This record gives sequence, C-alpha cells and structure tokens, in this order.
Amino acid sequence: MIILSIESSCDETSVAVCRERDVLSNIVATQIEEHKIYGGVVPEIASRRHCEAISQVCDEAVNQAGITYDDIEAVAVTFAPGLIGALLVGVNFAKGLALSLGVPLIPVHHLRSHIAANYIESPQLKPPFLCLLVSGGNTVLAEVTDYTKFNILGATMDDAAGECFDKAARFMGLSYPGGVNLDKIATVADPQKYPLPTPKVGENDLNFSFSGLKTAVINLIHNKEQKGEAVDVPVLCATLRQKVCDILIDSTLKAAERYGHKKIAVAGGVSANSELRSRLESECKARNLALFYPPLKYCGDNAAMVGVQAFYEYKDGNVAGQDLNATATLPINYNS
Ligand code: KG4
Repeated sequence: MIILSIESSCDETSVAVCRERDVLSNIVATQIEEHKIYGGVVPEIASRRHCEAISQVCDEAVNQAGITYDDIEAVAVTFAPGLIGALLVGVNFAKGLALSLGVPLIPVHHLRSHIAANYIESPQLKPPFLCLLVSGGNTVLAEVTDYTKFNILGATMDDAAGECFDKAARFMGLSYPGGVNLDKIATVADPQKYPLPTPKVGENDLNFSFSGLKTAVINLIHNKEQKGEAVDVPVLCATLRQKVCDILIDSTLKAAERYGHKKIAVAGGVSANSELRSRLESECKARNLALFYPPLKYCGDNAAMVGVQAFYEYKDGNVAGQDLNATATLPINYNS
C-alpha cells in the first residue's frame, strides 16, 4: 500500500511516500534558521512557513519516490499533538489531497509516529516492547502492546527532557535548538563543581520531573553571574546531560525489569543524544536486553515515520473523514 504522509506539527514541513515500512522518499524542509534568532519556535511564523512550503515539498516527495499522484492509495497526516496552527496546515492540505485523489485519510498521533521511526530500519522490531519517548514536548515511558495500543507507565509531570535541555542551553548562551548544541559541546561532567538536584516524583517512581533541574541550572548561572564568576559551559552541559541521562536510563531499566520487557526502543528528538545512546547500549548489553533507536535522520520530526505508523493505523481501521480537526494535546493512548 502506497501512503503519502504529511508532518507539520512544529517547525519542519515534511512529506514522505512509504510502502508499509519502506521509505520511498522523505523530504524535510526545516525552519530552524528562521526561529534561531528568537531562541525558539515562534508558532505564527511556523504556520506561515508551512503554508508556503507544503505544496512544493509534496511535489518533491512524489517525484523523488518515482510515482505519480495516481499511485497514492492513502494520505496520512499528523493531527495531534503539536502547535495548533502548524498542525492545521498539514491537516487541511491532507484533507484536500485525499478528497481530490478519492483515497482514505489516515490521522496519525505524533508520538506514535516517533515510535514508528524505529520500524524503518529495524524489520525485526515488533510489539510488544518498552519505549522511552523523549522529545521537546513530551517524556513518556510506555509499553507498546501492539502497533496502535499503548500502556503509559510513566510520564513527565512538568517539563519534557528536551525542554529542560533547550531552556538550560539558552541560558548558557547556546543557540536553538539547544539540546543538539548542548550535546555537541559537552565535555566531561563534574557533579562536584556543579551539583544538580535529583528530582522527586511522588508515588509513581516511573514518572519524571525536569523543571526543577532546569531551574537549578538557570539559578546556578545567575548566581555565578552575580558573583562575576565564569561558568565552564562545556562542563555544565556535560553535567546536565549526565543527570538527565541518569534519570531517563534509571526509570527505563526499572520498568523493563518490573514489567519483564526484553526489548527497549528509544524515540523522539532526544533519542539522538549521544550519551543516552551509548550508555543505554552498554546497560542493555549487560542485561541481555535488545535496544532499538532510530537512525539520526529519523530522530527529529519527519513524515517517513508518519507514513510507517499510518500503515498500522489503517490496518486497525483508523480512518478519518473530512471533519478531521487538529488537536494541540492528546495522550498517546487516546483510542486504546
Ligand atoms: O521530537 P522532536 O524533534 O520534536 C518534538 O516533537 O518535540 O524533539 C526535539 C527536541 C528538542 O528539545 C531538541 O533540543 C532535542 O529534541 N534534541 C536533543 C538532541 N537532538 C535533538 N537533545 C539532546 N541531545 C541531542 N543530540
């Protein structure tokens, strides 16, 4: 089944053509340079840029896949969660395209598609498995019991891990997207020099909290500034990265043991983090657990992962009508 998929939930306009788990094309037009000067994504600008880019990106995806519009058997689109104006561009474009081609319209949840990014180059990965989903807006630990069924074991009670990286990086003077740049310049952690708190999360020990950690870094920087002392940015970056990885890895391994999972997948933008990948690799190896993470090109927002998840949504009967709307917030298990 040939599916044309669309992603516009944040600051990437992306269209892909997939045949089940095979990616025939995946075009991503990023707006990063434009948002950089503001230190983060400006929603209004994001929506406008999606409007300008989407037709051209779509044509390019069709051409690069070596197909024509007549070959498309379904149109899929990210409809939730994300920036509402940005999502609406993709949703309305998808509705028009599906209607004009006379093919089904498949709504795809953004976080489900991040998990599906793992299927693209790992044909052996099949549910059930445990997934640590870490992005700029979400941090969730979930059991993927089937391709469209999710059991949430823990989630952040405040900020996402990516948000913590991005904001802390901004206060350290790093440019947007902060998490990426923080990972690039981080050297060796020094918790003695920069002690950071370990968040307490209440009764469910698989939940997360990152806002206190973010505030601790910001306070530390202000404090140093007030005393006229310099901050060793690469060391502070490494110390924060280590602390965030400690928290994420600890909960993931705990959940794997408690619920008897032998397969662990990592997904979302933060799954590109070098320390998270390398430490999880050795921890999983030591415990005989199979670890999956997407290739770097599929860690960030892209339409290929939307197309792959769409195939499973379609098989499960998840098809939308022309009344499909975008939704800014929606849990991953919304129809489980
Ligand atoms: O999944 P994503 O592309 O967008 C959302 O759906 O949120 O995730 C973006 C997040 C940003 O916070 C970005 O800073 C973070 O992923 N990120 C990283 C790295 N690459 C991207 N954080 C830490 N280390 C990285 N290498």
